[in-house]
Amino acid sequence: MVLVCKTGDAGDAERWKTELQRLLPALEIRDWPDIGDPTEVEFVLLFRAVPGLFDGMTGLRAVFSAGAGVDGFLCDLPPGVPVARLVDPWMQTAMAAWVVHAVLHFARNMPAYATQQIRGIWRERFEEHFEPRRVGILGCGEIGRRTGSALTGLGFRVSGWTRTPRDLGGLEPLYGETGLARLLAGSEFLVCLLPLTPGTEGLLDAGRLAQLPKGAFFINASRGRVVGQRDLLAALNSGHLGGAWLDVAEPEPLPPGDPLWRHPRVRITPHVAGVTNPITGAALVAENIRRVRAGEALAHPVDRNRGY
Ligand code: GLV
Repeated sequence: MVLVCKTGDAGDAERWKTELQRLLPALEIRDWPDIGDPTEVEFVLLFRAVPGLFDGMTGLRAVFSAGAGVDGFLCDLPPGVPVARLVDPWMQTAMAAWVVHAVLHFARNMPAYATQQIRGIWRERFEEHFEPRRVGILGCGEIGRRTGSALTGLGFRVSGWTRTPRDLGGLEPLYGETGLARLLAGSEFLVCLLPLTPGTEGLLDAGRLAQLPKGAFFINASRGRVVGQRDLLAALNSGHLGGAWLDVAEPEPLPPGDPLWRHPRVRITPHVAGVTNPITGAALVAENIRRVRAGEALAHPVDRNRGY
């Protein structure tokens, strides 16, 4: 039983290997590119496409994603091989905490207080919000729903947007083109957690950003390519957007001269909202290996047509 490991920046590779080996002592783990005879490989653990990685893997039984998103390698897979997403409750909690922090940062006037502190100014800014403040979450899979319920618990009114109709528990469910227009028009805080697919690439263009209420805040923890970055900058510069917190950008790293770096109303973090935990991740991959070997269906299979 051979697994090829190429986890890239999705968790520490040594940790992945130690943990997988502990859980599955019979598993032989080979590091790309030293994979020996490719016909012996049954499994691949991957985050980003590597040219030629699958060459000669005639006995491949499944590919496992080392991160939540599969956009990094989905375009480059041999046909027919099942692929599993990494759906990790540990990561969902980490992402939810990061988003809650970003929303509260803007909702509780932290940028203004940071500026005041630099100038030694002690002055209250009264927060005249007597109604729940409104958050819209784009993408309501496991991470979006976990984030939504955390924000609901803190008194926000949360709507969630999905491609097709879906019960979102305590969140207001919106879907399709009309639902998107409604969600944008009603979101003081827009949180993007969408997977990157041909259907979501460039989704937030100038026209859609213009549908947000004036002064809205944009928080992106999905992929930079879901938003038109120049359109975002223009919406910030015109004052239409009150601020943004970007954990992702296009390209990554964001080039040193990019105006978003120094924008006074933008916070940037280097793609850290939900970093893979190889310990919890390995348990999920090990369970999927067990399933394949027992002839059972994969947990969290990727639908290649849908793109996630
Ligand atoms: C991070 O972006 C991931 O997909 O896990």
